[in-house]
Amino acid sequence: MTSSSSAMILLLILLASSHLAVYAANLNQDFDITWGDGRAKILNNGELLTLSLDRASGSGFQSTNEYLFGKIDMQLKFVPGNSAGTVTAYYLSSKGSIWDEIDFEFLGNLSGDPYIVHTNIYTHGKGNREQQFYLWFDPTSNFHTYSILWNPRSIIFSVDGTPIREFKNFESMGVPFPKTQPMRLYSSLWNADDWATRGGLVQTNWTQAPFTASYRGFKANACVLTSGKSSCTGKSPLSTSTNEAWLREELDTIEQERLKWVQSNYMIYNYCTDSKRFPQGMPPECGITRGS
Ligand SMILES: *[C@@H]1O[C@H](CO)[C@@H](O)[C@H](O)[C@H]1NC(C)=O
Ligand SMILES: *[C@@H]1O[C@H](CO)[C@@H](O)[C@H](O)[C@H]1NC(C)=O
Repeated sequence: MTSSSSAMILLLILLASSHLAVYAANLNQDFDITWGDGRAKILNNGELLTLSLDRASGSGFQSTNEYLFGKIDMQLKFVPGNSAGTVTAYYLSSKGSIWDEIDFEFLGNLSGDPYIVHTNIYTHGKGNREQQFYLWFDPTSNFHTYSILWNPRSIIFSVDGTPIREFKNFESMGVPFPKTQPMRLYSSLWNADDWATRGGLVQTNWTQAPFTASYRGFKANACVLTSGKSSCTGKSPLSTSTNEAWLREELDTIEQERLKWVQSNYMIYNYCTDSKRFPQGMPPECGITRGS
């Protein structure tokens, strides 16, 4: 082997390991366990976080940072087996009575029956924007990446890089959009058997407890608020240029096609088609179609 090719290999190894370092973020630094009396744990030197739920209590954590826009990825693996009645909530939220919130909730089910991915968006304290989906894989057998992109143009929910929902900024048409209140990331595992599984028909079977959900691979390109000042990250480890492309990112044509694929094959509820719920008229964003 020539010395230049071994130098090249060494360089590649260095680049690869610096790239990995971004993924192997230390969950001890990024999150605080907030409740659950020992049921939430950060393991393997900060690589893995687990939440558990038993009859006495669930558990939860929150991000140490507050974000004002971000592209946030996390790998999650949900409660396996009979998870009916359990809900894993994973969301961004600001504080106060006119809060903003970007919500993922994962509703458990009996063994072999599908999880529901429930999403909602609150702007200025008002939600009622639910959309629900099934997944195209079993989310309990492996880790999968669940992402929230929140930038001034839109909010995009994705699963393994496939967009499942887009909420565009239609402020110009009178639809409020979250953009001034910083949000923290929260997650919790709790018992919601009064509504979660088949509308509350299937109760949590406590003989299966403790129930456990797992988290790893946290990655945030975000604008982080430190003592009132916001600073944005997004520097790519493989280049010297700052790359804040996520702040302007929108769905490209291929992603729009994939979003349509999800919506026509896996969407099971859409508030925008539930006219019974809105006798006074549909929410304004429902009447606005993409300019395609
Ligand atoms: C649970 O499985 C049933 C039957 O397949 C399905 O109707 C329901 O949507 C599934 N999910 C939840 C959370 O109830
Ligand atoms: C709860 O799970 C146990 C063990 O699998 C099973 O024997 C029992 O029938 C389940 N209870 C209900 C109410 O389904």
